[in-house]
Amino acid sequence: MLKDKISRREFVQLTGSILIASMAGATLSALFNSCTKEGSNPVQPPQGTSFTIKLSEHPDLSQVGGFKTFTVNSTPIIVFRTGQTTFKALSLVCTHQGCTINWVNSSMQFQCPCHGSKFDKDGNVIQGPASRNLQSFRTEYKSDTNEVVIYL
Ligand code: FES
Repeated sequence: MLKDKISRREFVQLTGSILIASMAGATLSALFNSCTKEGSNPVQPPQGTSFTIKLSEHPDLSQVGGFKTFTVNSTPIIVFRTGQTTFKALSLVCTHQGCTINWVNSSMQFQCPCHGSKFDKDGNVIQGPASRNLQSFRTEYKSDTNEVVIYL
């Protein structure tokens, strides 16, 4: 037969066990989510917009091989001049967990300060933990206005 009442000691032990179990569950859940949600939360620019760069205002992009970073709608991007009329634009948001990566010109690669991911100059992963390449954006050079349009 079940007891209708539990002692004070049994009540304290039972509530303590429930509290510890729920705290452990919340902690494990937080750890699991932080380790498994790769790339689910990086800041991404709004799609379907464009960003125009007037080259006369950005001498860093006047020569082939030049590059410059911009912030578009709170998202850091980097633009490289790859030819007289060609440009490349990449997101600087790490695809692992969204840290802002750095371009290291001496090694010609991107490095993430958070967990060490590395990407080549085209944004391809060369060292994890990131497993997805950097987001790239279509670019268009307009010779009549000497501008570059970045399509986000
Ligand atoms: S955020 Fe983890 S490697 Fe970049």
